[in-house]
Amino acid sequence: MSSDYVEVRVALQRRVRRRRPWLEAAQTPFRDDAPMVGPPKTTAADFEMPRLRRCPFDLDSMVWEARMGGGLDGYVWKVRFGTQGPFVLKVFWDAQPVDFPTYYAPQRECQNAALLQMMQTAVEQAAAASRPILVNPKPTTWDDAIANLAAFSDEARLKQPSPADQGSGPPQEGFCQISTMPRVKKCYGWLTIPGTIFRELHWTLRPPPVQVDRIKRYLTPDQEYIAIVYEYVEEGENDPETMQKAMDFFWLAGFSCAFSPLLRNWKSGVLVDLSDIVPPRGYGWQEKLYKDGPESAHVLLKQPLPAGPVRARACT
Ligand SMILES: Nc1ncnc2c1ncn2[C@@H]1O[C@H](COP(=O)(O)OP(=O)(O)O)[C@@H](O)[C@H]1O
Ligand SMILES: [Mg+2]
Repeated sequence: MSSDYVEVRVALQRRVRRRRPWLEAAQTPFRDDAPMVGPPKTTAADFEMPRLRRCPFDLDSMVWEARMGGGLDGYVWKVRFGTQGPFVLKVFWDAQPVDFPTYYAPQRECQNAALLQMMQTAVEQAAAASRPILVNPKPTTWDDAIANLAAFSDEARLKQPSPADQGSGPPQEGFCQISTMPRVKKCYGWLTIPGTIFRELHWTLRPPPVQVDRIKRYLTPDQEYIAIVYEYVEEGENDPETMQKAMDFFWLAGFSCAFSPLLRNWKSGVLVDLSDIVPPRGYGWQEKLYKDGPESAHVLLKQPLPAGPVRARACT
């Protein structure tokens, strides 16, 4: 084969890929083979390319307890591992990225779960070392979102003077300090599920096909699927103030909301579907969904807006 021919093919492939940014985005690694034991690393590089660690639980010890339902991205079960649990297992419909202009669901959720876990660790370390996480309190652009995300990293926190150096005055002018995190659903890492496993389940536990708009989603025995293990979030009222604090935090930390956020993805004031937020470097992050501030819990709950300023503050 002449090298001219190869060059032409490579150039063509590049052009085709350039016209399909969703396929290119899906190539960014999002899984880490290290087991999820102990806190995650929180360097700037980890925040730039978040990768979720592997679930250390033994798949052979998993007991399927009940089906919980499914949506656009995957199907969800209540499970146990040995005597531990309950947990939630979310199996993603798409074993591979599909050539369609949309996000790759396992990638978005792995990135989000990894980022939220890193942020939680960063908030704890910032409090322990008294080196605050300082963010722009009114981010509107992609650059603002990226800068706020970076503020959680070890490098950014180390640049902040500790109170011993600066006295315990208010945070640097123009910035606000993130010192707490809303409750986010705990993640225990990713695993792979061989599709043959579903054949062995009692019919009441097998994943049914799910129709979403005009798309039928199903799992087949001949594929290996990506799954994530999460904390089981109990049924409970969605208190608007608790939800708003979480929404404010996601916005300040750089996440945009997804195109069509859904109330059924919230339980007990906790976001249970991590595909509803988009990380700043993720496919589908949109300035037009970001620039006007956080989502409104009252709007999602279809409640009248409270009097006074609409937005709660996630900063201290
Ligand atoms: N960690 C969890 N705890 C409790 N319920 C959950 C949890 N994760 C998902 N669910 C339930 O399962 C449903 C489907 O899961 P979800 O993550 O929203 O799937 P999809 O991304 O396909 O919409 C949710 O609407 C919710 O009712
Ligand atoms: Mg959902």
